[in-house]
Amino acid sequence: MQNKKILVTGGAGYIGSHTVVELFNAGYTPIIIDNFSNSEQDVMIGINTILKTEIKWYEGDCRDIDYLNKIILLEKDIEGVIHFAASKAVGESVEDPLEYYDNNIGSLITLLQAMKKAVINNIVFSSSCTVYGQAKKLPVTENTPILPAESPYGNTKQISEEILCDVSNAESDFNAVSLRYFNPIGAHPTSLIGELPIGVPSNLVPFITQTAAGLREKLIVFGDDYDTEDGTCIRDFIHVIDLAKAHVKALDALFGGKLTGSSVLNCGTGQGNTVLQLIKSFEKVAGTKLNYEIGPRRSGDIEAIYADVKRAEKLLDWKTELSLDQALEDAFNWQNALKK
Ligand code: NAD
Ligand code: WQD
Repeated sequence: MQNKKILVTGGAGYIGSHTVVELFNAGYTPIIIDNFSNSEQDVMIGINTILKTEIKWYEGDCRDIDYLNKIILLEKDIEGVIHFAASKAVGESVEDPLEYYDNNIGSLITLLQAMKKAVINNIVFSSSCTVYGQAKKLPVTENTPILPAESPYGNTKQISEEILCDVSNAESDFNAVSLRYFNPIGAHPTSLIGELPIGVPSNLVPFITQTAAGLREKLIVFGDDYDTEDGTCIRDFIHVIDLAKAHVKALDALFGGKLTGSSVLNCGTGQGNTVLQLIKSFEKVAGTKLNYEIGPRRSGDIEAIYADVKRAEKLLDWKTELSLDQALEDAFNWQNALKK
């Protein structure tokens, strides 16, 4: 199992960069392709400094079949793929759906064509809890009914899962695992890699850390009139390193023959926290009061979601290990390191 070459598309991004580190630490050889549309080449310095080695990377677009074929040929013996490359801003996808279908669906199809040509049969795909929408019953299991997507972004994840299922039905040797991420937060404890939101963050934790660091005046909590214990929304916040390790375990399971055909697995902690609970944890670990106020609901937000993670724990032999406090501390340290 050691030293298998893994092509990591979008490997310079937030979750991809942490996964590259965990892959290398587990004995895999990650090869990155990224077009740097939502990341910076400096990320490679962070990864290489953590690992004290040079990870190979290529600048290119996953929609470019000739480029993918060329890199796969050049690298010769790639045995698996982790496909992170996608556009991920839900609001933007509503404004520019074609761009989202083009990038997210286009990249996947092109990549699968290149994999087929090179007879690479194992892929781990970045799916999302967004496929569930507002489920009637919590926690959500992988059998929870999938509702019509609420955004083009969400739809690209639903369609991608279906494409992977169809391809695995058509090709008996082809195996795909779609990991449905819940809310990844945090950063590497070295503060050498982390999340790099462009412009004003729309996600909660980057907005909190930027507010605490003085870059934003205050956080608006979007609604406290939901039917939850303190009225704010509930999410399943997972440390990005725990999530990264799930990818390593997914590859292990694919190569070990434990996962065949197409599978979907929830990747969360199994624990829901409200927005206000998260803010309190942040204030505790940061040792500072956060400037926030309650505002109106944000359109499109669901009230509550958290994962049933039994299937992933069993099939991947994986369990989250890092606490919410740890994730928030790592996120804040990363934010403070960015300022220097
Ligand atoms: P990210 O934007 O930080 O990383 C994506 C990377 O892919 C970036 O480095 C970007 O430059 C690259 N990329 C985009 N399109 C490309 C293309 N056509 N060719 C080559 N590279 C391309 O995002 P992330 O948070 O690391 O998310 C990774 C994956 O996980 C995405 O598929 C996203 O939809 C999914 N996901 C993310 C979250 C989240 O909250 N961050 C939750 C669920 C699912
Ligand atoms: C979390 C909670 C907000 C900002 C998004 C995508 C989803 C997935 C993960 C990719 C919500 C509240 C937020 C703020 C706030 N991504 N909030 N003030 O919406 O759960 O999920 O990222 O697949 O598809 O939709 O994450 O971090 O934006 O919000 O009160 O300034 O924090 O209302 O309840 P979300 P988030």
